[in-house]
Amino acid sequence: MKRIAIFASGAGSNAEKIIQHFAALAAKNLSPAAMIALIVCNKPGAGVLKIAEINDIPFLVIDKEKFFRGNGYVDELKAAGIDFIVLAGFLWKLPSVLIRDYPKKIVNIHPALLPNYGGKGMYGHFVHEAVIAAGEKESGISIHYVDEHYDHGQIVLQAKCAISPTDTPESLARKVQILEHMHYAPAIALMATL
Ligand code: GRF
Repeated sequence: MKRIAIFASGAGSNAEKIIQHFAALAAKNLSPAAMIALIVCNKPGAGVLKIAEINDIPFLVIDKEKFFRGNGYVDELKAAGIDFIVLAGFLWKLPSVLIRDYPKKIVNIHPALLPNYGGKGMYGHFVHEAVIAAGEKESGISIHYVDEHYDHGQIVLQAKCAISPTDTPESLARKVQILEHMHYAPAIALMATL
């Protein structure tokens, strides 16, 4: 059984969908090959911590100094038996030590069609504002492996949605979130066991 850690900084709606997906597989006796074993969060009070509590999943609130100047929490992740890492709205760049220890074992979701509209500062509403301002006709999601650059690793899956002339950054965010909730969990279930 592969053990997955979800790293999240915010509301945690993706984390919640992923947890539900794995719980549903287990409930249907589909003997899933992976489980959500840990939530890692850098923000005390973040919504994702509540979600961890409700679902009875252990969580770890991490400290900036230790994350960036220490061991990137590799020892703690190894001690928890973590095999695979999922970023779901985690806003800190991962330190090299962590990326080196989990080669092709870290996945991220980006709320646009990479390589466009990615990189430092391109997160949340900034992404959708830029996409609308550029007059794009479509946007979507990119699920990709994580390397040492923002939003840069190998893309595994993209899904698209159309943008209509009346769309706003807010309405586009809702369309993109539907795609995230639909595709991220099944992609993780496959990738974690490769
Ligand atoms: C999502 O839009 C995801 O694409 C991005 O961060 C957001 C997280 O939202 N990387 P939530 O906390 O899962 O609701």
